[in-house]
Amino acid sequence: MKAVKVGLLGLGVVGGGTWKVLTNNADEIQRRAGRRIEVVGVAVRDVQKAQGLVGDSAYVTQDGMRVVRDPDIDVVVEVIGGETLAREWIMEAIAQGKHVVTANKALLARHGNEIFAAAEAKGVTVAFEAAVAGGIPAIKAIREGLAANQIQWVAGIINGTSNFILSEMRSRGQSFHEALAEAQLLGYAEADPTFDVEGVDAAHKLTLLASIAFGIPVQFNKTHTEGISHLAREDIAHAERLGYRIKLLAITRRSERGIELRVHPTLIPTERLLANVEGAMNAVLVSGDAVGPTLYYGQGAGELPTASAVVADLVDVARAFDVDPAHRVPHLGFQPESMVDIPI
Ligand code: HSE
Repeated sequence: MKAVKVGLLGLGVVGGGTWKVLTNNADEIQRRAGRRIEVVGVAVRDVQKAQGLVGDSAYVTQDGMRVVRDPDIDVVVEVIGGETLAREWIMEAIAQGKHVVTANKALLARHGNEIFAAAEAKGVTVAFEAAVAGGIPAIKAIREGLAANQIQWVAGIINGTSNFILSEMRSRGQSFHEALAEAQLLGYAEADPTFDVEGVDAAHKLTLLASIAFGIPVQFNKTHTEGISHLAREDIAHAERLGYRIKLLAITRRSERGIELRVHPTLIPTERLLANVEGAMNAVLVSGDAVGPTLYYGQGAGELPTASAVVADLVDVARAFDVDPAHRVPHLGFQPESMVDIPI
């Protein structure tokens, strides 16, 4: 069967991880996808460094548009982050009739509706499992595993950096700034760590989860967003004495008035599972009317965990590759035009 040809935009932490997973697990991936998945072009800033990793198995260029417009390429993987170039390249890839896999939560949270509508009109897929909770297949769990359910609520620890900071402040008595510096050193934080500590990154991810869970358009600007930067060691120690842990929770819930979307520090009784999610780990609790509560736990950031989600999306695209767009299962779980604009 014809191989699926991939263009990789970015070869940083996630892009490099994607390359490694595709290379190390090529046979397993081929068995699952039903065909080979081959990276044939890579766009990066530092061409020489990238050539060191990819050798001569793919061409390396600084020109993202060359990759996006390459007629040999079927799927574009965008892992450069940011909103300007990433948006331009993704929109052009869609216009060229290519499928897109992206880990870019900030871009999708702000421009997802436009991007999904363009993909729908062109009959291509935009897959984004890696944008939410890194290696945890939270989107697939809601869209596929819980497809029989009316989702009632989702509550998650979906920012590893803030969870790491809260864990360090509690267990090692570090200050907020000491713990943040360590999270940055370990590579968990966003380029702008205010996104992590002010709840913005969690809000980006929450709006995507809510869209999948409830079939609503992406509405980042309607999310109540509060972070952890105002918390002191004493707050955390005081909560502990009362039998609670403080966690930055992202919550979306169906209520009589509409859909709630909120991110804020929350007191959780210490005996609950979510209270015991420590360090940079993520956890997503999803409740469906038929199944009841379900819990997904794992690494929410990092090279290989995030690459695991990117490659899983590539496998999905490869499996549906020859299916007529009219017969393809809608990738969001809903057709974008059938999404319901429930009040928020
Ligand atoms: N900065 C993010 C986090 C990375 O800490 O969770 C993964 O999205």
